[in-house]
Amino acid sequence: MTLDDIIAREFPRLQTSEMAWLNSASTGPMPERARRVAIEQVEKRMEPWRYGSVEQFEVLDRSRELCARLIGASPDEIALMVNTTAGLNLAARALPFERGDVVVGTDRDFPANVYPWMAMAKDRGLEFRQVPCRHGLFDEDALVAALDEPRVRALVVSWVSFESGVRLDLDRLGAECRRRGVTFVVDAMQGLGPLTIDVRKTPIDILSCGAQKWLLGPWGTAFTWLRKDLVRQLEPANVGWMSVKGSDDFTQLVNYRLDYWDDARRFEVVTLPYQDFSLMNASLELIHEAGPAAIAARIAQLTNRLVQWALERDDMRLVTPPDPLRRAGIVAIAPRDPVAASTRLTAQGVGHSLREGAIRLSPHFFTPAGHVERALEVLGAG
Ligand SMILES: Cc1ncc(COP(=O)(O)O)c(C=O)c1O
Repeated sequence: MTLDDIIAREFPRLQTSEMAWLNSASTGPMPERARRVAIEQVEKRMEPWRYGSVEQFEVLDRSRELCARLIGASPDEIALMVNTTAGLNLAARALPFERGDVVVGTDRDFPANVYPWMAMAKDRGLEFRQVPCRHGLFDEDALVAALDEPRVRALVVSWVSFESGVRLDLDRLGAECRRRGVTFVVDAMQGLGPLTIDVRKTPIDILSCGAQKWLLGPWGTAFTWLRKDLVRQLEPANVGWMSVKGSDDFTQLVNYRLDYWDDARRFEVVTLPYQDFSLMNASLELIHEAGPAAIAARIAQLTNRLVQWALERDDMRLVTPPDPLRRAGIVAIAPRDPVAASTRLTAQGVGHSLREGAIRLSPHFFTPAGHVERALEVLGAG
Protein backbone atom coordinates (compact mmCIF):
# COMPACT_ATOMS: atom_id res chain seq x y z
CA MET A 1 0.00 0.00 0.00
CA THR A 2 1.38 3.44 -0.91
CA LEU A 3 1.59 6.37 1.47
CA ASP A 4 -1.30 7.99 -0.39
CA ASP A 5 -3.47 4.87 0.01
CA ILE A 6 -2.74 4.88 3.73
CA ILE A 7 -3.63 8.56 3.95
CA ALA A 8 -6.91 8.05 2.11
CA ARG A 9 -7.87 5.14 4.34
CA GLU A 10 -6.72 6.48 7.70
CA PHE A 11 -7.32 10.23 7.45
CA PRO A 12 -10.41 10.61 5.26
CA ARG A 13 -11.77 13.54 7.23
CA LEU A 14 -8.64 15.61 6.81
CA GLN A 15 -8.86 15.32 3.05
CA THR A 16 -12.41 16.60 2.83
CA SER A 17 -12.58 18.91 5.86
CA GLU A 18 -12.97 22.67 5.58
CA MET A 19 -10.06 22.87 7.99
CA ALA A 20 -6.45 22.74 6.81
CA TRP A 21 -4.67 21.22 9.81
CA LEU A 22 -1.11 22.51 9.87
CA ASN A 23 -0.78 22.11 13.59
CA SER A 24 0.50 18.64 14.43
CA ALA A 25 3.13 20.27 16.65
CA SER A 26 0.16 21.03 18.88
CA THR A 27 -2.12 18.00 18.45
CA GLY A 28 -1.80 15.21 15.92
CA PRO A 29 -5.05 13.83 14.52
CA MET A 30 -5.83 10.23 15.32
CA PRO A 31 -6.23 7.76 12.46
CA GLU A 32 -9.38 5.90 11.51
CA ARG A 33 -8.10 2.66 13.01
CA ALA A 34 -7.76 4.33 16.42
CA ARG A 35 -11.45 5.24 16.29
CA ARG A 36 -12.33 1.58 15.84
CA VAL A 37 -10.05 0.56 18.70
CA ALA A 38 -11.60 3.25 20.93
CA ILE A 39 -15.07 1.84 20.38
CA GLU A 40 -13.87 -1.70 21.10
CA GLN A 41 -12.13 -0.52 24.26
CA VAL A 42 -15.20 1.17 25.70
CA GLU A 43 -17.37 -1.79 24.79
CA LYS A 44 -15.04 -4.06 26.70
CA ARG A 45 -14.96 -1.73 29.69
CA MET A 46 -18.74 -1.87 29.79
CA GLU A 47 -18.23 -5.55 30.63
CA PRO A 48 -14.98 -5.47 32.63
CA TRP A 49 -14.72 -9.25 32.72
CA ARG A 50 -13.83 -8.97 29.01
CA TYR A 51 -10.79 -6.81 29.85
CA GLY A 52 -8.71 -8.68 32.42
CA SER A 53 -5.18 -8.20 33.60
CA VAL A 54 -3.68 -10.53 30.98
CA GLU A 55 -4.96 -8.31 28.22
CA GLN A 56 -4.02 -5.17 30.13
CA PHE A 57 -0.43 -6.36 30.38
CA GLU A 58 -0.42 -7.34 26.70
CA VAL A 59 -1.43 -3.81 25.74
CA LEU A 60 1.49 -2.31 27.66
CA ASP A 61 3.94 -4.93 26.37
CA ARG A 62 2.91 -4.03 22.86
CA SER A 63 3.30 -0.30 23.62
CA ARG A 64 6.85 -0.81 24.89
CA GLU A 65 7.66 -2.87 21.81
CA LEU A 66 6.25 -0.32 19.34
CA CYS A 67 7.94 2.63 21.07
CA ALA A 68 11.24 0.76 21.23
CA ARG A 69 11.10 -0.07 17.53
CA LEU A 70 10.61 3.59 16.71
CA ILE A 71 13.98 4.56 18.17
CA GLY A 72 16.01 1.35 17.69
CA ALA A 73 15.81 0.45 21.38
CA SER A 74 14.78 -2.68 23.18
CA PRO A 75 11.43 -2.89 25.00
CA ASP A 76 13.03 -3.44 28.41
CA GLU A 77 14.53 0.05 28.17
CA ILE A 78 11.12 1.70 27.75
CA ALA A 79 9.06 3.04 30.64
CA LEU A 80 5.53 4.05 29.71
CA MET A 81 4.50 7.45 30.98
CA VAL A 82 1.38 9.59 30.84
CA ASN A 83 3.27 12.55 29.37
CA THR A 84 6.70 13.77 28.31
CA THR A 85 7.06 15.80 31.48
CA ALA A 86 6.85 12.70 33.68
CA GLY A 87 9.96 11.32 31.97
CA LEU A 88 11.84 14.59 32.38
CA ASN A 89 10.95 14.65 36.07
CA LEU A 90 12.13 11.05 36.27
CA ALA A 91 15.50 12.15 34.87
CA ALA A 92 15.66 15.15 37.20
CA ARG A 93 14.78 13.17 40.32
CA ALA A 94 16.47 9.82 39.68
CA LEU A 95 19.89 10.89 38.38
CA PRO A 96 22.42 11.01 41.23
CA PHE A 97 22.88 14.78 41.49
CA GLU A 98 24.56 16.48 44.39
CA ARG A 99 24.23 19.99 45.75
CA GLY A 100 26.28 22.36 43.56
CA ASP A 101 26.11 20.16 40.44
CA VAL A 102 25.35 22.03 37.24
CA VAL A 103 22.69 21.06 34.72
CA VAL A 104 22.91 22.85 31.38
CA GLY A 105 19.84 23.67 29.30
CA THR A 106 18.67 26.49 27.07
CA ASP A 107 16.82 29.69 27.93
CA ARG A 108 13.98 29.12 25.44
CA ASP A 109 13.04 25.49 25.92
CA PHE A 110 9.49 24.26 26.33
CA PRO A 111 8.55 24.63 30.02
CA ALA A 112 8.24 20.83 30.42
CA ASN A 113 12.02 20.71 30.19
CA VAL A 114 12.59 23.77 32.38
CA TYR A 115 10.42 23.59 35.49
CA PRO A 116 11.57 20.13 36.63
CA TRP A 117 15.15 21.48 36.61
CA MET A 118 14.24 24.77 38.24
CA ALA A 119 12.52 22.78 40.96
CA MET A 120 15.67 20.70 41.43
CA ALA A 121 17.65 23.92 41.77
CA LYS A 122 15.24 25.09 44.46
CA ASP A 123 14.84 21.79 46.31
CA ARG A 124 18.26 20.18 45.97
CA GLY A 125 20.69 23.02 45.38
CA LEU A 126 21.47 22.18 41.75
CA GLU A 127 22.45 24.97 39.45
CA PHE A 128 20.29 25.01 36.34
CA ARG A 129 22.29 27.00 33.81
CA GLN A 130 20.16 28.19 30.90
CA VAL A 131 22.44 28.95 27.97
CA PRO A 132 21.11 31.96 26.04
CA CYS A 133 19.76 31.42 22.57
CA ARG A 134 21.36 33.25 19.64
CA HIS A 135 18.93 35.30 17.56
CA GLY A 136 16.17 33.31 19.23
CA LEU A 137 17.62 29.91 18.21
CA PHE A 138 19.23 27.22 20.37
CA ASP A 139 22.96 27.93 20.26
CA GLU A 140 24.69 24.60 19.79
CA ASP A 141 28.25 25.98 20.05
CA ALA A 142 27.41 27.76 23.29
CA LEU A 143 25.85 24.57 24.69
CA VAL A 144 29.04 22.65 23.91
CA ALA A 145 31.17 25.39 25.46
CA ALA A 146 29.03 25.32 28.61
CA LEU A 147 29.89 21.63 29.14
CA ASP A 148 33.51 22.44 29.90
CA GLU A 149 32.90 23.45 33.48
CA PRO A 150 33.82 20.52 35.79
CA ARG A 151 30.60 20.61 37.84
CA VAL A 152 28.41 20.03 34.81
CA ARG A 153 26.61 16.70 35.23
CA ALA A 154 23.84 16.82 32.63
CA LEU A 155 22.78 18.49 29.40
CA VAL A 156 19.00 18.70 28.97
CA VAL A 157 17.56 19.90 25.67
CA SER A 158 14.69 19.54 23.28
CA TRP A 159 15.71 17.90 20.04
CA VAL A 160 13.56 20.42 18.15
CA SER A 161 12.37 23.74 19.54
CA PHE A 162 8.61 24.06 19.98
CA GLU A 163 8.70 27.71 18.90
CA SER A 164 11.45 28.31 16.34
CA GLY A 165 11.55 24.77 14.97
CA VAL A 166 15.37 24.74 15.15
CA ARG A 167 16.83 21.24 15.42
CA LEU A 168 19.84 20.36 17.53
CA ASP A 169 22.48 17.95 16.28
CA LEU A 170 22.08 15.19 18.86
CA ASP A 171 25.03 13.20 17.50
CA ARG A 172 27.34 16.12 18.07
CA LEU A 173 25.97 17.10 21.48
CA GLY A 174 25.83 13.46 22.60
CA ALA A 175 29.46 12.88 21.59
CA GLU A 176 30.53 16.02 23.49
CA CYS A 177 28.62 14.80 26.54
CA ARG A 178 30.14 11.31 26.37
CA ARG A 179 33.67 12.73 26.16
CA ARG A 180 33.09 14.58 29.41
CA GLY A 181 31.00 11.98 31.22
CA VAL A 182 27.96 14.28 31.14
CA THR A 183 24.48 12.71 31.07
CA PHE A 184 22.48 13.67 27.99
CA VAL A 185 18.71 14.03 28.43
CA VAL A 186 16.54 14.74 25.38
CA ASP A 187 12.94 15.83 25.03
CA ALA A 188 12.07 14.30 21.65
CA MET A 189 8.48 15.54 21.49
CA GLN A 190 8.91 17.85 18.48
CA GLY A 191 11.52 15.72 16.77
CA LEU A 192 10.33 12.14 16.63
CA GLY A 193 7.96 11.73 13.68
CA PRO A 194 9.30 14.42 11.38
CA LEU A 195 12.73 12.88 12.07
CA THR A 196 13.95 9.39 12.84
CA ILE A 197 16.55 8.34 15.36
CA ASP A 198 18.49 5.26 16.36
CA VAL A 199 19.53 5.42 19.99
CA ARG A 200 22.10 2.69 19.38
CA LYS A 201 23.99 5.16 17.20
CA THR A 202 23.21 8.54 18.76
CA PRO A 203 24.81 8.85 22.20
CA ILE A 204 21.82 9.81 24.33
CA ASP A 205 21.19 8.64 27.90
CA ILE A 206 17.53 9.43 28.49
CA LEU A 207 14.87 10.36 25.93
CA SER A 208 11.28 11.28 26.69
CA CYS A 209 8.48 11.68 24.16
CA GLY A 210 4.72 12.10 24.23
CA ALA A 211 2.53 10.49 21.58
CA GLN A 212 -0.16 13.14 21.24
CA LYS A 213 1.48 15.21 18.53
CA TRP A 214 3.60 13.76 15.75
CA LEU A 215 2.95 10.16 16.81
CA LEU A 216 -0.81 10.64 16.36
CA GLY A 217 -1.73 9.08 19.67
CA PRO A 218 -4.14 10.14 22.37
CA TRP A 219 -3.39 12.48 25.23
CA GLY A 220 -2.06 10.66 28.26
CA THR A 221 0.41 8.44 26.39
CA ALA A 222 4.17 8.86 26.32
CA PHE A 223 7.34 6.90 26.80
CA THR A 224 10.75 7.38 28.30
CA TRP A 225 13.78 5.48 27.09
CA LEU A 226 16.83 5.00 29.30
CA ARG A 227 20.17 3.58 28.26
CA LYS A 228 20.27 -0.02 29.46
CA ASP A 229 22.85 0.37 32.22
CA LEU A 230 21.04 3.44 33.55
CA VAL A 231 17.87 1.40 33.88
CA ARG A 232 19.61 -0.81 36.41
CA GLN A 233 21.56 1.97 38.11
CA LEU A 234 18.75 4.43 38.73
CA GLU A 235 16.06 3.99 41.31
CA PRO A 236 12.63 5.48 40.75
CA ALA A 237 11.87 8.68 42.65
CA ASN A 238 8.16 8.07 42.25
CA VAL A 239 7.60 4.44 43.14
CA GLY A 240 4.67 2.66 41.55
CA TRP A 241 3.00 -0.30 43.20
CA MET A 242 4.07 -2.40 40.23
CA SER A 243 7.68 -1.13 40.17
CA VAL A 244 8.86 -4.25 41.98
CA LYS A 245 9.45 -7.84 40.99
CA GLY A 246 6.49 -10.12 41.36
CA SER A 247 3.96 -7.28 41.54
CA ASP A 248 2.14 -8.74 38.54
CA ASP A 249 0.89 -11.49 40.82
CA PHE A 250 -2.18 -9.85 42.31
CA THR A 251 -2.87 -12.75 44.61
CA GLN A 252 -0.13 -11.70 47.03
CA LEU A 253 0.31 -7.98 47.10
CA VAL A 254 1.10 -7.45 50.77
CA ASN A 255 4.17 -9.59 50.53
CA TYR A 256 6.18 -6.33 50.28
CA ARG A 257 9.71 -6.44 48.95
CA LEU A 258 11.30 -3.28 47.60
CA ASP A 259 13.16 -5.12 44.86
CA TYR A 260 12.75 -3.18 41.60
CA TRP A 261 12.24 -4.80 38.20
CA ASP A 262 15.52 -5.09 36.32
CA ASP A 263 13.87 -3.44 33.32
CA ALA A 264 12.42 0.04 32.88
CA ARG A 265 9.05 -0.99 34.31
CA ARG A 266 10.62 0.03 37.62
CA PHE A 267 9.93 3.64 36.61
CA GLU A 268 6.31 3.15 35.61
CA VAL A 269 3.67 4.46 37.96
CA VAL A 270 0.58 2.37 37.45
CA THR A 271 -2.34 2.17 36.92
CA LEU A 272 -1.71 3.35 33.36
CA PRO A 273 -4.56 4.14 30.96
CA TYR A 274 -4.80 0.86 29.08
CA GLN A 275 -7.44 2.13 26.70
CA ASP A 276 -5.29 5.11 25.73
CA PHE A 277 -2.23 2.95 25.20
CA SER A 278 -4.34 0.70 22.96
CA LEU A 279 -5.09 3.72 20.82
CA MET A 280 -1.45 4.76 20.84
CA ASN A 281 -0.59 1.25 19.66
CA ALA A 282 -2.98 1.62 16.73
CA SER A 283 -1.33 4.91 15.77
CA LEU A 284 2.20 3.55 16.13
CA GLU A 285 1.32 0.48 14.08
CA LEU A 286 0.19 2.83 11.36
CA ILE A 287 3.46 4.78 11.57
CA HIS A 288 5.47 1.56 11.33
CA GLU A 289 3.38 0.41 8.37
CA ALA A 290 3.75 3.70 6.52
CA GLY A 291 7.45 3.75 7.40
CA PRO A 292 9.02 6.40 9.66
CA ALA A 293 11.50 7.36 6.93
CA ALA A 294 8.77 7.79 4.31
CA ILE A 295 6.78 9.91 6.76
CA ALA A 296 9.81 12.08 7.48
CA ALA A 297 10.47 12.54 3.75
CA ARG A 298 6.89 13.63 3.07
CA ILE A 299 6.97 16.12 5.93
CA ALA A 300 10.26 17.50 4.61
CA GLN A 301 8.69 18.14 1.18
CA LEU A 302 5.91 20.17 2.77
CA THR A 303 8.14 22.13 5.15
CA ASN A 304 10.58 22.88 2.30
CA ARG A 305 7.76 24.55 0.44
CA LEU A 306 6.92 26.71 3.48
CA VAL A 307 10.56 27.72 3.90
CA GLN A 308 11.02 28.58 0.21
CA TRP A 309 7.90 30.69 0.23
CA ALA A 310 8.98 32.67 3.28
CA LEU A 311 12.47 33.23 1.88
CA GLU A 312 11.02 34.80 -1.24
CA ARG A 313 8.91 37.34 0.64
CA ASP A 314 10.32 40.53 2.03
CA ASP A 315 7.30 41.05 4.28
CA MET A 316 7.99 37.80 6.18
CA ARG A 317 10.77 36.87 8.57
CA LEU A 318 11.62 33.18 8.54
CA VAL A 319 12.32 32.33 12.19
CA THR A 320 13.25 28.71 11.47
CA PRO A 321 16.71 28.19 9.95
CA PRO A 322 16.41 27.48 6.20
CA ASP A 323 19.05 24.71 6.27
CA PRO A 324 17.08 21.41 6.17
CA LEU A 325 19.53 19.85 8.63
CA ARG A 326 18.68 22.49 11.21
CA ARG A 327 14.91 22.05 11.21
CA ALA A 328 12.23 19.34 11.27
CA GLY A 329 8.42 19.56 11.09
CA ILE A 330 7.91 23.08 12.42
CA VAL A 331 8.26 26.20 10.29
CA ALA A 332 7.83 29.49 12.14
CA ILE A 333 7.20 32.57 10.06
CA ALA A 334 6.82 36.08 11.48
CA PRO A 335 4.70 38.43 9.40
CA ARG A 336 4.60 42.14 10.30
CA ASP A 337 1.44 41.69 12.34
CA PRO A 338 1.42 38.11 13.70
CA VAL A 339 -1.77 38.54 15.73
CA ALA A 340 -3.73 39.79 12.71
CA ALA A 341 -2.28 36.97 10.60
CA SER A 342 -3.30 34.40 13.20
CA THR A 343 -6.83 35.80 13.32
CA ARG A 344 -7.02 35.65 9.52
CA LEU A 345 -5.73 32.07 9.41
CA THR A 346 -8.25 30.95 12.01
CA ALA A 347 -11.09 32.67 10.17
CA GLN A 348 -10.05 30.94 6.95
CA GLY A 349 -9.82 27.51 8.56
CA VAL A 350 -6.06 27.08 8.77
CA GLY A 351 -4.99 25.25 11.93
CA HIS A 352 -1.75 26.82 13.20
CA SER A 353 -0.26 28.17 16.43
CA LEU A 354 0.83 31.64 17.41
CA ARG A 355 4.04 31.16 19.37
CA GLU A 356 6.33 33.92 20.66
CA GLY A 357 5.36 36.39 17.92
CA ALA A 358 5.44 34.01 14.95
CA ILE A 359 3.00 31.82 13.06
CA ARG A 360 3.96 28.21 13.64
CA LEU A 361 3.00 25.83 10.85
CA SER A 362 3.52 22.10 11.25
CA PRO A 363 2.22 19.92 8.42
CA HIS A 364 2.28 16.16 8.80
CA PHE A 365 2.65 13.46 6.17
CA PHE A 366 -1.09 13.35 5.54
CA THR A 367 -1.39 17.12 4.93
CA PRO A 368 -2.52 17.70 1.33
CA ALA A 369 -0.17 20.01 -0.59
CA GLY A 370 -3.24 22.13 -1.35
CA HIS A 371 -3.67 22.86 2.35
CA VAL A 372 -0.12 24.17 2.55
CA GLU A 373 -0.88 26.46 -0.41
CA ARG A 374 -4.06 27.67 1.26
CA ALA A 375 -2.15 28.51 4.44
CA LEU A 376 0.42 30.49 2.46
CA GLU A 377 -2.23 32.33 0.51
CA VAL A 378 -3.96 33.47 3.71
CA LEU A 379 -0.70 34.27 5.47
CA GLY A 380 0.53 36.33 2.52
CA ALA A 381 -2.70 38.24 2.06
CA GLY A 382 -2.16 40.60 5.01
C1 LIG B 1 9.21 20.22 23.23
C2 LIG B 1 7.96 19.85 23.96
N1 LIG B 1 8.05 19.05 25.04
C3 LIG B 1 6.97 18.69 25.75
C4 LIG B 1 5.71 19.12 25.39
C5 LIG B 1 4.52 18.69 26.17
O1 LIG B 1 4.82 17.77 27.13
P1 LIG B 1 3.73 16.84 27.81
O2 LIG B 1 3.63 15.60 26.98
O3 LIG B 1 4.29 16.57 29.15
O4 LIG B 1 2.45 17.61 27.86
C6 LIG B 1 5.57 19.97 24.27
C7 LIG B 1 4.29 20.52 23.81
O5 LIG B 1 3.23 20.50 24.35
C8 LIG B 1 6.73 20.33 23.56
O6 LIG B 1 6.63 21.12 22.48
